[in-house]
Amino acid sequence: MDEKQRIIDLRAELNRHNHLYYVENAPEISDQEFDRLMHELMDLEARHPEMYDPDSPSQRVGSDVSQEFRQVRHRYPMLSLANTYSRADVREFYDRVSAGLGGRKFQICCELKFDGLSISLLYEHGRLVRAATRGDGEQGDDVTANVRTIRSIPLRLPEGDYPDVFEIRGEVLLPWKSFERLNAQREAEELPLFANPRNAASGTLKSKTSRVAALRGLDAYLYYLLGDNLPSDNHYDNLQKAASWGFKISKAMRLVSSLEEIYQYIDYWDEERHKLPVATDGIVLKVNSLAQQRELGYTSKTPRWAIAYKFQAERARTRLLKVTFQVGRTGAVTPVANMEPVLLSGTVVKRASLHNEDMIHKLDLHEGDYVYVEKAGEIIPQIVGVDENARSGDGRPIEFIRTCPECGAPLIRYEGEAAWYCTNTVTCPPQIKGRIEHFISHDAMNIDSIGPETVDALYQRGLIRDAADLYRLTVADLSGGGETREKSARKMLRGIDESRKVPFERVLYALGIRFVGKVSARNIARAMKSMDAIAGAPADVLSDIEGVGGVIAGSIHSYFADPRNRDFVARLRQAGLQMQVAAPTAPTGEALRDKVIVISGVFTHHSREEYKEIIEQQGGRNASSISRNTSFVLRGDNMGPAKLEKAQKLGIPLVSEDEFLRMIGEA
Ligand code: IVH
Repeated sequence: MDEKQRIIDLRAELNRHNHLYYVENAPEISDQEFDRLMHELMDLEARHPEMYDPDSPSQRVGSDVSQEFRQVRHRYPMLSLANTYSRADVREFYDRVSAGLGGRKFQICCELKFDGLSISLLYEHGRLVRAATRGDGEQGDDVTANVRTIRSIPLRLPEGDYPDVFEIRGEVLLPWKSFERLNAQREAEELPLFANPRNAASGTLKSKTSRVAALRGLDAYLYYLLGDNLPSDNHYDNLQKAASWGFKISKAMRLVSSLEEIYQYIDYWDEERHKLPVATDGIVLKVNSLAQQRELGYTSKTPRWAIAYKFQAERARTRLLKVTFQVGRTGAVTPVANMEPVLLSGTVVKRASLHNEDMIHKLDLHEGDYVYVEKAGEIIPQIVGVDENARSGDGRPIEFIRTCPECGAPLIRYEGEAAWYCTNTVTCPPQIKGRIEHFISHDAMNIDSIGPETVDALYQRGLIRDAADLYRLTVADLSGGGETREKSARKMLRGIDESRKVPFERVLYALGIRFVGKVSARNIARAMKSMDAIAGAPADVLSDIEGVGGVIAGSIHSYFADPRNRDFVARLRQAGLQMQVAAPTAPTGEALRDKVIVISGVFTHHSREEYKEIIEQQGGRNASSISRNTSFVLRGDNMGPAKLEKAQKLGIPLVSEDEFLRMIGEA
């Protein structure tokens, strides 16, 4: 068959499967089959650059090029809704609408209130041309590049009875599952966690590179259609139409015509919403007829034809017993409220993090206060306020400590940070134990035969002061002399011994250098090859490595400037740990000797990582940005326009994947 025709067919087919998977939740083919079709399309597109189409399903992967967000003015202002927490207010709204319509009949459309970020999508002739955040309601950020990676948002509508120009508004969300995955990943990389899916969605929608947005798995529900020639004069039918054009519209919408039914809807979803894959924080009531909406009109800020009823987060009142302070592995001190146990949404709550000093001041916490506790994002209990009427008057304000509760060293608060840190990184026990726990953790040295209790016991007995001491432990040390425990002691020793084979990149991560996560450790290890090279590298050489900025580079530099850290690393070396990347197993060659190569785009035969390795095996060097020193750019699909322009400006040759494979004799 004609390859160009096949490209067109594949795009349509992949769009259909995207829709079935992400909108209908009813896939017809397996993920593998989907990937196979996608690869076929990407192969063909690479062979026919003249067929490039930004709306192709292959373009959903986003790009690495950093973007600035342009401000755009909304064609219709993006209003918010009047909020209420009470049923009495819902009744008042209902009566107001009824009176406003002179007692005539009306219908209310009941919907879920999605807890994400509102977004406005502009379609012209069936193509998504712009996506903007709400901003101040008049102007928002143009986030089109990031929104284009959201698989449930159609980039191009199939033939249909939609107006030439329309806007559709809705909510961008990070589903619970993606939110949990993202936070788990961030925890492993010691990045600050997102408090709830809404913050995570917001951070993601504003990420500087659309590749990041693409990877995080955003979703979107749409709930408001605007334009001149809408298909119907009622809201509900317009949205059903939009669903038929391919948009994701909530199946929970209901038309009702009495207050009773509204209450039933509220009661039903107050329970059921906990089973939904995305966060909701209430329901929205809208007058269904657009004619009646026009009749009711707007106040200065909100429509008179709609209201949001917010679910009350479950809240409990209890007594603050005392505030204790916890020291983490980085030395950060976290205040914790210890309270009289109280039941909240099915679990007993007796402790809640107070996060930092500012939080204590904001709450104006006093000893013996009665406090209100809620579950933030329905997971973590949090103190949201104080019952000031119940204050006895003799409780003193809670003060943040100034010395470490574990070692007595003074605390320090760095400019621009909310946390206080213990200054004694060397002998403060929780910092030492925390570093050792990090060292043996799964993603680091993976010594899973030892747990935190063993680390604590060994520390208490004075047998370990840092992770290098692990490698000198004996069976007697670990069994504590007891015979029954000899077997488990041997197992621990085997685990420690095995860790000597753990690859260098994970040894580097295991050191626990501040800001050096799993991914940056891998990039640094691959670029620099050995611990000695890293220890001796100036910060600006390190910061040139992909994914390593000034902060990480500076942190590595100061780590190795400290003689105690250098001594620690020397003892690890003596213990036999991997201090450089393993010799490559694949055959090496000279085909790329002294070439400086920048990789850009997406490839079909090997991954980017594999190409990086191939380049090094063939005597070349990887660079992350194009400069006059670049020998050539290995160009994949979707090479970013900024990189392309720079290469052309500097006259750097572009080499296709096939040409490259021929160069290294792999074609
Ligand atoms: S309608 C003029 N419907 O809640 C009416 N909003 O302040 C426009 N929201 O900014 C909004 N779910 O971000 C509407 N089903 C829903 C909604 C919803 C969530 C958000 C939206 C809006 C805020 C209300």
